[in-house]
Amino acid sequence: MLDRCPHRFAPLSDGWIEDGRLICRYHGLGFDGAGVCVSNPHGPPLRGMSIPAWAIHEVHHAIWIWFGDPGQADPELIPDLSYLTAAPATAFSAGMLTGKGNYELFVDNLMDLSHTDYLHPATLGGGAVTKVKPDVVEADDHIEVTWRADDTPPSPLLRKLFPELPAQTDFWQRVRWFAPGVMKLTAATGAAGGAEEQALVNVNAHITTPETATSSHYFFAATRNFKVDDGELNAMIAQKREEIFVTEDKPMLARVQERMGDAEFWSLKPRMLPIDAAPVAVRRRMRKLIEAEAALRSSPRAEVA
Ligand code: FES
Ligand SMILES: [Fe+2]
Repeated sequence: MLDRCPHRFAPLSDGWIEDGRLICRYHGLGFDGAGVCVSNPHGPPLRGMSIPAWAIHEVHHAIWIWFGDPGQADPELIPDLSYLTAAPATAFSAGMLTGKGNYELFVDNLMDLSHTDYLHPATLGGGAVTKVKPDVVEADDHIEVTWRADDTPPSPLLRKLFPELPAQTDFWQRVRWFAPGVMKLTAATGAAGGAEEQALVNVNAHITTPETATSSHYFFAATRNFKVDDGELNAMIAQKREEIFVTEDKPMLARVQERMGDAEFWSLKPRMLPIDAAPVAVRRRMRKLIEAEAALRSSPRAEVA
């Protein structure tokens, strides 16, 4: 629901739920789940008074909002993140941060993981991603990028966590993007030439939504296939990941946004490199989706709220 009471604009999130109604904390008007005012302690319910309300669906440890006609909300369109709920508590962690930067900058950051070699050289980097070309596959409902580097040293962080890892490993990493900002990141490291089933695999979710035009909410969750009962390792990985993001990615994205100001990304004529194949494919897809939605809205016959 819009977080603003139609009476005197109090935040409805300050209210409480009573008999299925959301009660405004300021003067007590009550609203049902569709946003219609259904009770008024000062007189009869105010007919016709309502606030915008959207369809939501709760699954995969997240609340998904459909900002369109509630009648068209289809939970089948939610990307499959069931690996998050399938993971044991000791192999699952999640968090949320807010940072400066348009949400598309946050998406770019994940669709081009070559940045790990330069922005995170002491932990996630190590040079493997820079050595290989990203392989981009476009499908109707997603865009996927894969990096595969054989016979390469493990990342410094993995080396520290698993000193027993061989000096040379096979490494691959894949990010699958779903519009507008849901990404599934799989990263695997195994002994060079070894069986894939024995690789250490992390499957993570990264979800970004706009807060404003120049700041974003960033939700993340992590699972893994190794030492899944080790709660201490779980906490340590979660803490490390947050530290890396807060001290390295977040300030970089903020400074990129500062340098861009309010300018539209393409208007600044960014020079593209082969590493930009996936981020550019995603930006193009988003442009198409936004244009298609705008065309639908401006069509007089469109049945869109
Ligand atoms: S502001 Fe909500 S009832 Fe007055
Ligand atoms: Fe990063």
